[in-house]
Amino acid sequence: MEGSRFRTRVREICRHAYALAVTSGTAALRVALAVLDLQPGDEVITQSFTFVATVEAIIEAGAIPVCAEIDGTLNMDPESLKSLINPKTKAVIAVHMLGTPARLFEIDDICRKNNLMLIEDAAWGCGGSLDGRPLGTWGQMGTYSFDFAKTMTTGEGGMIVFHNQDDYKVAAAWHDHGHENNPSVPRWEDTRASSGFNFRMTEMQGAVGLAQLKKLSHVVTMQRKNRDAMWAAIQSLPGIIPREVPAGSHETADALIFSVADKATARKCRDSLLTEGLSTKILPEAVTWHFAGTWTHMSELVARHGGDLAKAFGPSRSRLERAVSLPVVVKMDETVPTRLHTALSRVLS
Ligand SMILES: Cc1ncc(COP(=O)(O)O)c(C=O)c1O
Repeated sequence: MEGSRFRTRVREICRHAYALAVTSGTAALRVALAVLDLQPGDEVITQSFTFVATVEAIIEAGAIPVCAEIDGTLNMDPESLKSLINPKTKAVIAVHMLGTPARLFEIDDICRKNNLMLIEDAAWGCGGSLDGRPLGTWGQMGTYSFDFAKTMTTGEGGMIVFHNQDDYKVAAAWHDHGHENNPSVPRWEDTRASSGFNFRMTEMQGAVGLAQLKKLSHVVTMQRKNRDAMWAAIQSLPGIIPREVPAGSHETADALIFSVADKATARKCRDSLLTEGLSTKILPEAVTWHFAGTWTHMSELVARHGGDLAKAFGPSRSRLERAVSLPVVVKMDETVPTRLHTALSRVLS
């Protein structure tokens, strides 16, 4: 009951006809890919800067993961996407890393022209929008994560939103062992057309999600306000360049990201922030879990990108090495902007 009220509320917010609650953002991606009926050798393109989960879901679905370079938004570079499309490409997963929208106008256009399904990995995008359209609703399907680190959380959990009833039906059956939930028969006599798995969200998570949704807009508003105060304190420092943001973006502002001259300076910024009692978020320290160039354990990815990931993703590597990401919280200690300035001016002045 709570689970279905949660789904209904997400559908209303997304202005979408169909939504499916699942156990995690990773499960959401895997279930979404089940709609495609991927065959061995099929390729799915995502981006080099994402969490490992996006590529894991592609591999789990039996397809070959391909990662596009990122541009100044630190999301998918549309030109790189174009260069990777070939007859084996079946879908594109654009990611809104850390709450900043990908260049959806361009990516959507490329997908339409090449007859490719666009899925949005909006794990970080819940509560954000581009051109007034919620992130997750531009593609044929959009996925959200409600894990403990996201803008809204159900402990663990995820959601998929769909434009199309047929996609929803395939996904709904697949996330529930193939159950079609035929209303004319009891569950033990339920009809089925395919096998599947169990990725059902629990009612308890649904109840938490309903409560969290009520706070979502406040959370995003506060994060944006605090992000702006942080940026105002440091924007005039020499050599600090903000992350690019597509026009018309309403970011969730989970992080404030900027780049500096080189890798060594980014590391020095991090060390200086630590001495001021401030931390960084993913960049530069945790990029290993978020950059395809380090995923040597994924043989499918390694083979597709020339056999040596150390030589792959040069443009993305150079952007990520120079980037610093600061966590943005809802209840910010009012001394944070001044301490940020103190820490960073030691390195950048
Ligand atoms: C871009 C991206 N996609 C997918 C996921 C997976 O979400 P979950 O942790 O809910 O499985 C994450 C998690 O951080 C993520 O950052």
